[in-house]
Amino acid sequence: MRWDPLQYARYSDHRSRPFFDLVAQISAESPAAVVDVGCGSGELTITLAQRWPAATLLGLDSSPEMIARAPVGRGASFTVGAAEDLDALGVDVLISNAALQWVPQHTELLTRWAGQLNDGGWIAFQVPANFDAPSHKLMRNLADSPRWRGRLQGVLRDALAVADPDTYLDLLTANGLQADVWQTQYLHVLPGDDPVLEWVRGTGLRPVLQRLNDDEADAFSAEYAALLRHAYPGRPYGTVFPFLRTFAVAQKA
Ligand SMILES: C[S@@+](CC[C@H](N)C(=O)[O-])C[C@H]1O[C@@H](n2cnc3c(N)ncnc32)[C@H](O)[C@@H]1O
Repeated sequence: MRWDPLQYARYSDHRSRPFFDLVAQISAESPAAVVDVGCGSGELTITLAQRWPAATLLGLDSSPEMIARAPVGRGASFTVGAAEDLDALGVDVLISNAALQWVPQHTELLTRWAGQLNDGGWIAFQVPANFDAPSHKLMRNLADSPRWRGRLQGVLRDALAVADPDTYLDLLTANGLQADVWQTQYLHVLPGDDPVLEWVRGTGLRPVLQRLNDDEADAFSAEYAALLRHAYPGRPYGTVFPFLRTFAVAQKA
């Protein structure tokens, strides 16, 4: 999938908060090797260099567009690559924020990484748990409506893109890690017109936009925006976009 780093960055203040909430729960003191899987354009990755200045820090992402904007020379190196191809041998901290939902086999990957990680090492990840929220349901229903079905069949993921918190807890524990798994719902207060549409245009709507030509994409966006306005009415202080996320932070014995 092609990413648009500038569109994604429009709500970077809101999007970065779960990253810091995740990293705050990792108690590693001086890891030697840290990897950020699905690091995007890397602004969050380099904050890890302040936390662990002695660590070798690698940001990995499958999107060349994202990696092209990564801040090189600021304490981390960056590479284009797939999570599926990553070995965690010799890694002390493996972080993945808001990326594993794009990796269908990520539960198998977590099992492999848990086995490869250094003893005492950490796996910490966060995935959205909002696939049943109006934003996603309305998108899926519209894509499946008679007008769009022919063009958009099979393009969107469903709730199965991520596992239940319980499943992650069982999986990490079964693989010899001591795990802390939790969910947080953020109530993002967004400014401007159609902010939920603008938010998902940077992420979940991208597969739709990529499948359609420009005129079709405009028409789909207009229909979807009207539905979103009804589901997320503006309030005097902004539009509230509730967003549930699942976090897991686990240490290998
Ligand atoms: C929503 S962005 C999150 C970026 C960053 N971690 C952050 O928190 O801002 C998801 C990222 O996952 C990357 N991604 C998706 N599938 C991937 C895969 N199989 N391997 C590596 N990166 C992947 C995308 O290219 C994208 O940059």
